[in-house]
Formats: sequence, structure tokens, C-alpha cells
Amino acid sequence: TTVALLFGGRSGEHGISCITAGGILAAIDRTRFDVVAIGITPEGRWVHVSDDPSDWTMVGGRAPEVAADGDEVLLPSSCHRAGERTALRVLREGRVEPLAEIDVVWPLLHGPYGEDGTVQGMLEMLDIPYVGSGVLASATAMDKAATKVALRAAGIECAPGIVVHEDRWADGAGRVLAHLEQHHPRPWFVKPARAGSSLGVSRVEEAAQLEHAMKAAFREDPKVLIEEGVVAREIECGVLAARDGGEPRTTLPGEVKVGADLDFYDYEAKYFGKGTVSIDVPAGLPDGVLEEAREIARRAFGALGLEGLARVDMFVTADHRVIVNEVNTMPGFTPYSMFPVLWESMGLSYAELIADLVDQAAS
Ligand code: DAL
Ligand code: MG
Repeated sequence: TTVALLFGGRSGEHGISCITAGGILAAIDRTRFDVVAIGITPEGRWVHVSDDPSDWTMVGGRAPEVAADGDEVLLPSSCHRAGERTALRVLREGRVEPLAEIDVVWPLLHGPYGEDGTVQGMLEMLDIPYVGSGVLASATAMDKAATKVALRAAGIECAPGIVVHEDRWADGAGRVLAHLEQHHPRPWFVKPARAGSSLGVSRVEEAAQLEHAMKAAFREDPKVLIEEGVVAREIECGVLAARDGGEPRTTLPGEVKVGADLDFYDYEAKYFGKGTVSIDVPAGLPDGVLEEAREIARRAFGALGLEGLARVDMFVTADHRVIVNEVNTMPGFTPYSMFPVLWESMGLSYAELIADLVDQAAS
């Protein structure tokens, strides 16, 4: 099987995707899979890069960035013929040359233009099988407001809050604030509807901080959620689609423990070692609560129509209510990321997990 691994991309999570791709390329079973590595620059140029991450010369700052100097990858403009594979070509010194024939694409992209149904739609148009969820499920799960609509309709509890659009904020801030003060106890969490890795997210203790928080969120997305801070522990559950048409498979949930030196589990804490964070796998909660969380994660997977994989992030309150925070359709995937660590704890190694996902997509 030949897999085209797409990574980088146009979202703010570009660098995280590069780190994740490096982990997968180092571990994928080369006796079973040939890999074509395709980096998408922050500007959206698709370039062919070495499938050995130790060859990469990444540009940019703390997080790696795909360099634009590789050969540009040319996608087909129509579907492959029946019985044939998809042929990719590159533009090399002004000439079009064959690159590879591929069976599957793995859009290992986080955030908009990757995890949001856009790339998935393009792959559907070209009839190329791919890892992960389809167009609607990806788009819904990328949008934290749309996710809640779908989950609540399935009877799954989500964090209370409101949605504010940027064009309504300028002259409506006063009304929003009055509504919040009346109905939603502080602290508030302000979140871009369609971003990941906590980019643009702020914790607001005082009403006077709201304007600043909204501006930071609007830099990521003109659609923003203001949620009540749920006083709870944060757990995450890994889900994989069934291999045999049965129920989706789930992991025991893991817990993210955030120290008192952090306001919340933000971007710097997630990737750059800010503050005290520890991961407990499985979470130290009663078995009944862990099983309920798994059941909710499994139902969320079904309610959103997800395929392939997902990490369902949840809160557990002091009285053991389980509330879904959000769902990630292409969660962080380095060998140390929560999703692979959860599966490892269930007996599925990193390399087996990678193979499972590619096999699912190819079959
Ligand atoms: N959005 C990041 C990559 C995650 O959910 O793990
Ligand atoms: Mg999360």
C-alpha cells in the first residue's frame, strides 16, 4: 500500500502537524507501506519532501515549518480510471515528472484546511481513499458550536455557553456582557469556534478582560464561543472505528492534570513545557465513571458520523457528571501524544495503530 502523508498546512497548527508527521514517518512499517511525504506550506503550496524526517530542513521558529523549496506536487484534476491508482506528479525545474502512484492519503493536518472537511472534499472529488472522517463529520467536529448542536441532539451534555460573530460584536458587546453576567457564572472561556491546540483561547476572570479575549479569538475565527468554565477534571478518550462493522473501539480515558501555576491547558503548556502538566493513563477515577466516559465517547463518535479515529475530550465534575468539551478528528499523533499513548495502554502499539488506520482507509 502506498500512502501519501499530507502535513503542515495553512492553519495555526502547522508546526504541530509537522512534528506529528515526523513521528509517524519514523515509525510506520516500511515492509507494509510505501510513503510519499507531502508538506503543505503555510501559504498552501504542496511540496514533495523526503520521507525520512532526519533529512528535513525546516524553516521557522520553535515549531517546524515546511520549506517552500521542494518540487511542487501536482494533483490530478479528475478521478483515476477504474482499476488504476491515483498518479501524482511533480513540477521539477519547469518539467512535469511522475512522482508516485498512491492508494491512500493520510491528511495528517490539524485545524482549518485540513481537519475541517475541505481537504476531505477535495479527496472525495478525486475518488482517493483517505484516513479519518468525511466532509460533514470533519466540518462539524472542527466547529465547536456545531459539535454541541449535534451532540446535544443526541442527548450528550456539553459545556454551556453562547456563540458571538465578529460582525455583531462591535455594536453588541454590551448586550452580550449583560446576558453573560445574568446567565453564565465566571470564569468564562473564550474560544475560536474553529481552531485547535487552544490557539486564541483565553480564560476570563473579570468582565473587563472580555474585550481583549474576544480580539484574540477573532484573530483565529470570526465565530467565537464564550463558555462557562466547568469546574471539573479533564479527561480524553481515544476512539477507533470498528474493524468489522460493530461498535467503535474506545480506550480507557486518560487525564490531563494541570498544575495551579497554569490558568488552563493552553498552547504553551501543550507543546512548550509551560507550567506543570501531567498525564495519567488511565485517569484515576472510579471504574464506573471511566466506563461511562467511554460510552459517551462512543456515542459522540456515532452522533457526529465520525470515521477512522477521534479523541473525545471531556470534563468530569466533582459529582461525576461527564460533559463533552470537544472532539478532535485528527488528534496530535506523536508517540508521546495522548491519543497514541491511550492506545498503547490498551495494547495497540504506535506502529500497529498507524497500520490500523491506513488499513481501514484502504479497505
Ligand atoms: N488539535 C490538537 C492537535 C489535538 O487535538 O491534539
Ligand atoms: Mg482539546
